[in-house]
Amino acid sequence: MNIVKADNLTCPLDGERLESYKKQLVCENGHTFDIARQGYVNLLPVQHKRSKKPGDSKAMVLARMNFLNTGIYQTIADKLTETVSAHIINDKNCCFLDAGCGEGFYFDALFNYFKGEEGASNLSFIGLDISKDAIVQATKRNKQITWVVGTNRQPPVENESVDIILCLFGFFNAEGFYKVLKPGGKIILVDPGPEHLKELREIIYPEVNETKQSNILATESTEFSLLNTEPVQFKVKVSSNEQINHLLLMTPHFYRASKDGKEAACILETLDLTIDVIFRVLKKI
Ligand SMILES: C[S@@+](CC[C@H](N)C(=O)[O-])C[C@H]1O[C@@H](n2cnc3c(N)ncnc32)[C@H](O)[C@@H]1O
Repeated sequence: MNIVKADNLTCPLDGERLESYKKQLVCENGHTFDIARQGYVNLLPVQHKRSKKPGDSKAMVLARMNFLNTGIYQTIADKLTETVSAHIINDKNCCFLDAGCGEGFYFDALFNYFKGEEGASNLSFIGLDISKDAIVQATKRNKQITWVVGTNRQPPVENESVDIILCLFGFFNAEGFYKVLKPGGKIILVDPGPEHLKELREIIYPEVNETKQSNILATESTEFSLLNTEPVQFKVKVSSNEQINHLLLMTPHFYRASKDGKEAACILETLDLTIDVIFRVLKKI
């Protein structure tokens, strides 16, 4: 496959197409966005921010990077590659958008898989996250992916220009995703299933509630059809106190758990865990 640079980024202020000029991206109305020294571009204007530093903090990003680098979630990356492969059309150009890409572990794995595949398609990769710290970290994983600070609510990408959106443990935005997907384009959603990390949850909460399931089906009938739902379950052993702490910090449980619960988890040396995630494929109607 040929990897090509994404040329479908748009100005977050007026929606016009961005062209690269020297070390900037520029729209026809003269709005300019610097390409940072690390290679990413910030397309999140202040008026699209709901807080000063939106998205995951640097500590969360680094914890996730350290945890994912152990390979404990490799099965999820492999399943993602398999699912995406089943939905791309050979010899046709394809733009991927990872919406809420975090520090880029899964997108980088997908990129490396396709880079080595035979085929005449031109593939472009856009990784989008609202957290600047996440995007800065992602640039260190992969210099060929187009990394962008921006929001899933208004992805700064041309309307109807994306073939496949990935949204892993992220923030599904029906309106934003619908706009940028080509007709017939797909979304691959990966969300926690009911048993996900249940052993950790049993330690940090006095009472364990079932993981809330995504309300994706509410929008499914009008804008998207659900093509496939597939649970992926496996068991892992996390055998270092450091990694247990990274896992806790990279999940929303860190903010929800009680002080006592977190203290109990923080001193563990090993933890047997159930990983339970649900892969869904949606198609734009
Ligand atoms: C749980 S993390 C998952 C990251 C990555 N997909 C992964 O699985 O490793 C959720 C990510 O969504 C980002 N995020 C939160 N709100 C967002 C928004 N409105 N638009 C884009 N990204 C957002 C956070 O900064 C964070 O990196």
